[in-house]
Amino acid sequence: MKKNFFIAFEGIDGSGKSTQVKLLKEKLEAAGQKVYVTCEPTDSPPGKMIRDMFNHRIDSDHRTIAALFVADRLNHILNKKDGILKMLSEGYTVITDRYYFSSYAYQSPHIDQDWVIKANSLSAGLLRPDLNIYIDISPEISIERLNKGRTSIELYETLDNLRAVRDKYIKIIDLLKDEEKVFIANGNQSPENTSKEIWDNVASMLQENSEK
Ligand code: ADP
Ligand code: TYD
Repeated sequence: MKKNFFIAFEGIDGSGKSTQVKLLKEKLEAAGQKVYVTCEPTDSPPGKMIRDMFNHRIDSDHRTIAALFVADRLNHILNKKDGILKMLSEGYTVITDRYYFSSYAYQSPHIDQDWVIKANSLSAGLLRPDLNIYIDISPEISIERLNKGRTSIELYETLDNLRAVRDKYIKIIDLLKDEEKVFIANGNQSPENTSKEIWDNVASMLQENSEK
């Protein structure tokens, strides 16, 4: 019987990932799970370099960004201090705010999609999420939410780009449907309603595993 899980949240900027990660963590803890929350880009050196590029502090290029995400993700999985594999081995259910579907969706409008998928195959080989939760939201609504909450806009946070990223998410989720378990949640509703949809799905995964 599998006791702890690896769950990845996905969606365009402003789709409500951070909000839903927090709500799911509370529900999992109430169900008796130990939960560790993490995110990408991470705080490691490649992650910091990515953030500096997004904030226009250092010069950037889509190819460099794509490669840095590959390195950041491998370190996220493998680092001995608080890497995802380590936390899973200690019995935590790990929730990450973004994982390799983010690279497929954000990097492949700019560089070759097959390269992005191949470059992430080491990560997929090491650790596939038990569940990817993709929060689907209209780019118009997400940009409205972002504009309300923030003063600066990052590299990828324009309406045209979010539309391109959403299209990629939908296409790649379909492309990988035989390899990846993906639940698509409706993000165009109240946080409570989205959270309920997500919880119904996660609770049934917990239930199925407790019966094995
Ligand atoms: P992400 O992590 O995907 O960028 P956040 O959870 O940070 O998204 O949400 C972006 C903004 O929208 C925040 O200001 C948050 O409070 C707000 N928000 C999140 N979910 C909803 C929702 N369902 N309805 C309205 N506003 C929301
Ligand atoms: P983040 O700071 O998590 O923003 P948000 O909370 O709005 O999701 O993510 C920063 C940006 O990184 C976001 O625009 C998506 C982008 N990103 C990629 O382009 N590729 C990736 O592989 C990942 C993990 C993130």
